[in-house]
Amino acid sequence: MCTELMEQKNAFLDQILAGRRSYRMFRPEFPPEDAIRRIIHAGLLAPFAAAALGNSTDYFRRFFVMKKGSRTIAAASPLVMEQVKVMAQALETEMEKNPALRTIAVSFVQRLTAIRKMGMIPGIGTAPYYLVVAERKGFPPVEQQSLAHCMENMWLKATALNLGFQMVSVTAQMSSDPAFCKILGIPAGEWELMGCAIGYPQEELGPSIRPPVDDVTRWLE
Ligand SMILES: Cc1cc2nc3c(=O)[nH]c(=O)nc-3n(C[C@H](O)[C@H](O)[C@H](O)COP(=O)(O)O)c2cc1C
Repeated sequence: MCTELMEQKNAFLDQILAGRRSYRMFRPEFPPEDAIRRIIHAGLLAPFAAAALGNSTDYFRRFFVMKKGSRTIAAASPLVMEQVKVMAQALETEMEKNPALRTIAVSFVQRLTAIRKMGMIPGIGTAPYYLVVAERKGFPPVEQQSLAHCMENMWLKATALNLGFQMVSVTAQMSSDPAFCKILGIPAGEWELMGCAIGYPQEELGPSIRPPVDDVTRWLE
């Protein structure tokens, strides 16, 4: 490939990688459905754990799009909030038995408390779109790793389309919830889930700041 073209491709890719940020405030307008389709297509291009999936002929990855103000968002939000409550209670019980856990879980506990106080889940109904991605369970259980690749592809594509993207990782806790899975139309417990919110960002964020490569890299003999 000619060097100039390669440099151009890398300049664009580097720009997208550095421009990928977590957006948590969105404008109310809906991005076009075609943009959401292009983001989903990027997710489909992500790698998957072929050996873990076996021989099922049914495709192993599914995408569910929920719009702000929709019936499905109204039904899903309280189910996720209930799960946040269950997680907070389970963690509190665990921390009473294991005080060392309190020290490492402190910021996560604060996050759960803040969500419960707000009475809404950031990313579910706070952005024009809430997307759930499902990956069929296989062996070994590497669905969340696969979903992470899918999410990253979608995140980078959203960035290239000038759209804001927010992970909604509490979605993972909903994979065994029969009522939540019924909304998606999948059987509970057979798929792992991850979620994200997408919309026009309210304000542009600057590029990611990361340490210099040489500060965090050791070349081994
Ligand atoms: C596994 C994982 C889960 C995350 N979950 C959430 C989440 O639920 N909500 C959220 O707003 N951000 C979430 N994030 C985003 C991180 O907080 C964010 O990537 C980090 O603070 C760095 O900021 P940046 O994305 O703007 O570079 C998650 C990121 C990862 C990798």
